[in-house]
Amino acid sequence: MPKIVIMPSLLAADMGRLAEECRRAEAAGADALHVDIMDGHFVPNLSMGPDVVKMARATVQLPLDTHLMVTQPQHLTAAFIKAGASPLLIHVEAQCDVRAVLQDIRRQGARPGLTLNPETPVEAAFPFLGDVDEVLFMSVHPGFGGQSFMPQVLPKVAALRRRCPDLDLAIDGGINRATTIAAAEHGVNMFVAGTYLFGAPDMQAEIALMRSAIQQAYSKKV
Ligand code: DX5
Ligand code: ZN
Repeated sequence: MPKIVIMPSLLAADMGRLAEECRRAEAAGADALHVDIMDGHFVPNLSMGPDVVKMARATVQLPLDTHLMVTQPQHLTAAFIKAGASPLLIHVEAQCDVRAVLQDIRRQGARPGLTLNPETPVEAAFPFLGDVDEVLFMSVHPGFGGQSFMPQVLPKVAALRRRCPDLDLAIDGGINRATTIAAAEHGVNMFVAGTYLFGAPDMQAEIALMRSAIQQAYSKKV
C-alpha cells in the first residue's frame, strides 16, 4: 500500500500555543501537519496565512500539507511555497486554470495536490491526475473543524483507488477512530484529523492506534 500518512490539523490546535502544538504533534508520531488556509470567500471562514506556515517550518521537520480553501489560489502559491508549504493543495472548484496552477506549484518545488468538495464527482479529478501527487477528498463541507463525517464520499475514493493504486489519497473532515477504518477500507492512505487528534488525551497513543487500524483495514479494502 502507499505510505500511511497521519496528519493532525492545526485548525484544532491551541492557537495561543501554536509552536508548542506543532512540536507536540511531531513528538506524538505524526507524519505531516495539515494546515488549513481559508479566505472567507471560498469558504465562510478565515484561518491562517503564510506566516503560520513559516512558523511551523521553523519549528518542526514534518511536511506541511497545506490546504488552500481559497477562490483564487494562483495569487497565493508563491507566498506559501516560500514559507515552506509542501504538499500544496488547491481545490478543483477554485476559479483558476487548475492545471496551470498545479504545474506552477511543481515548478516552484512543492508537491501539488488537488482537493474535491463532497458534492464534486470524482471524474472532476481525472484530467489532472498526471499533474498531482495527492488527491484530497473532503468528507465535510470545508470551512470548519468538528463536523460529522459524510460516508457518501467513500465510493468516490474507492473509484480513484481502483484507477490509481499508488497515488496518495487523503481524506479530510470528521476523521476519528471509526471513520479512519471506513476510509482505509475504501483506499485512503493519508488521514487529516483535527478535533480527534488535538483533542485526544494522549495523541501519541491515538496515532499508534490509528496506524495499526489503517494497516489492517487497508488490507481488506473494498
Ligand atoms: C475543514 C478543514 C479540515 C479540518 C478538519 O474545512 O479542511 O482540515 O481541520 O477538522 P476535523 O478533523 O475536526 O473535522
Ligand atoms: Zn483541511
